[in-house]
Amino acid sequence: MPFLFTPYVLDDILHPMIRIRPMIEADLAAVLAIEQACFSRAWTREHFLAELGSERGRPAVAELSGRVAGYLCLTVLLDEAEVLNLAVDPALQRSGIGAALLGWACDEAARQGAGLLRLEVRTTSAPAIALYKRFGFVRSGLRKAYYELGVDALLMDKYLVEEDVDAV
Ligand SMILES: CC(C)(COP(=O)(O)OP(=O)(O)OC[C@H]1O[C@@H](n2cnc3c(N)ncnc32)[C@H](O)[C@@H]1OP(=O)(O)O)[C@@H](O)C(=O)NCCC(=O)NCCS
Repeated sequence: MPFLFTPYVLDDILHPMIRIRPMIEADLAAVLAIEQACFSRAWTREHFLAELGSERGRPAVAELSGRVAGYLCLTVLLDEAEVLNLAVDPALQRSGIGAALLGWACDEAARQGAGLLRLEVRTTSAPAIALYKRFGFVRSGLRKAYYELGVDALLMDKYLVEEDVDAV
C-alpha cells in the first residue's frame, strides 16, 4: 500500500482557519504584494497568469480569515511535480501557513499521479530549507550562482510514494 506522509495535519488542527484553494486572477493583487515583499527578483503578473493558464499548473492560495496569506505554484507533468514558487505574507510567517501550503502540494502532486516532488531554493533561504527538510525533502543537487548576486540554488526532492521493496 502506498504511504502518504501528511505532516501538516497537525497544523490544520492548530490553525483551522487556514484554507487552501485554487488561485484565481482576482487574487493577483494580493499575491503580487506578497511576492514583492518576499523576493528581490519577484515574479511578475505575467508569470502568475502563465501558471493560471497552464494545463500543468496548479497554483493555490492559502486564505486566513478570508484574506490571501500565502501561495504556492505547483506544476505536475506525468510522474514528476515541482514547486515553482512559495511565499507567505511576512506579517503572517511562522504561523503554519507555509507548512499547510506545502502539505497541500505534496497531497495534490500525489493525487495527480506524481511520485516525485522537486524544487529549487536559494542556499541563503534558511527558513525555506528548514521547512522543506521538515517535510522530508532531501538535497539532490546544487546549481552554482544560479540566482542574483551569485547565490547558489539547492535542488531538493521528495518521493511521494514509498516503494514497496518486497514487490521489486
Ligand atoms: C519559507 C516560508 C514560505 C515558510 O512559511 P511559514 O508560513 O513562515 O512557515 P511555517 O510557519 O509553516 O513553518 C513550518 C516550518 O518551517 C520551518 N521554518 C519556517 N520559518 C522558519 C524560520 N524563520 N527559521 C527556521 N525554521 C523555519 C520550521 O521547521 C517550521 O516549523 P516549526 O514552526 O514547527 O518550527 C516563508 O518563510 C517565506 O515566505 N519566506 C520568503 C519566501 C521564500 O523564501 N520562499 C521559498 C522559496 S523556495
